[in-house]
Amino acid sequence: MAKVCILIGGSRGLGKSLLALYQQQGFTVLELSRSGSGDEHLELDMSRREAAIDTVDRMLADLARERWDEVQLIINAATIGPIGPLALSEPKQWWQHLDVNFTVPISILGRYQYHFGAYPARKVAAFVSSGAAHSAIDGWGLYCASKAGVNHFLRVMAAEQSLQPLPIECAILDPGVMATQMQATLREASVAQFSQVQSFIQLHQNGQLAAPETVAQNIYRRLAEPVSHTEVLDVSGY
Ligand SMILES: NC(=O)c1ccc[n+]([C@@H]2O[C@H](COP(=O)([O-])OP(=O)(O)OC[C@H]3O[C@@H](n4cnc5c(N)ncnc54)[C@H](OP(=O)(O)O)[C@@H]3O)[C@@H](O)[C@H]2O)c1
Repeated sequence: MAKVCILIGGSRGLGKSLLALYQQQGFTVLELSRSGSGDEHLELDMSRREAAIDTVDRMLADLARERWDEVQLIINAATIGPIGPLALSEPKQWWQHLDVNFTVPISILGRYQYHFGAYPARKVAAFVSSGAAHSAIDGWGLYCASKAGVNHFLRVMAAEQSLQPLPIECAILDPGVMATQMQATLREASVAQFSQVQSFIQLHQNGQLAAPETVAQNIYRRLAEPVSHTEVLDVSGY
């Protein structure tokens, strides 16, 4: 079986664990981020949306010329900042956030449909979302909105795919809280930026953040099974 995983954001944290696990399981992995390394790495800065989509488009076109039995696209990359009510940051920072967390993920899903819609293989499009998509957390307006937006886009995409002869299976994944750089960034916020910062410091102090390796295993196992609906899938590890 020739299996490929296109992993957006595999340089650290959950993405790095997914990269190692998918390789162990016999997948060819293409990893795209700013700071990844190795033969499987392709440079991608999602805050530069025009260059980013050109890179992704070329990569998908090349892959679609090869013969695969299974193709999994996992959009894991995201950013949390700027944290705080928008009065504390600038529009250019908001637009960068929205490009990384919303515009480019949706653009990648669109180009995946274009290149792989009619491709004869098992095809998966998975998005690493967050509980923030359905909770209103002060200071996280951009993050909550962008995660909710991509989730809903994927629900529409799943409805469209169900009308296709060779549908792409769409998955929305909630990884829970994990011990990664993103959590370290959150803990550095001030109370003025984010009133619940202390509770996140406590999660860390109490050892209540899951290991990203555990969450990666849950994702791998869940995506190995057919995905037939677009409820949020709980892949948390704690
Ligand atoms: N950690 C948690 O508790 C938690 C909870 C709920 C949901 N999540 C979600 O889980 C996923 C993984 O999070 P994590 O905690 O592992 O985060 P992380 O350690 O901060 O890693 C984020 C990944 O996204 C990539 N990325 C960020 N900005 C990028 C850009 N401009 N262009 C390309 N890639 C970019 C990073 O690569 P480079 O920096 O190398 O570009 C890195 O590989 C995210 O979608 C996050 O929203 C995390």
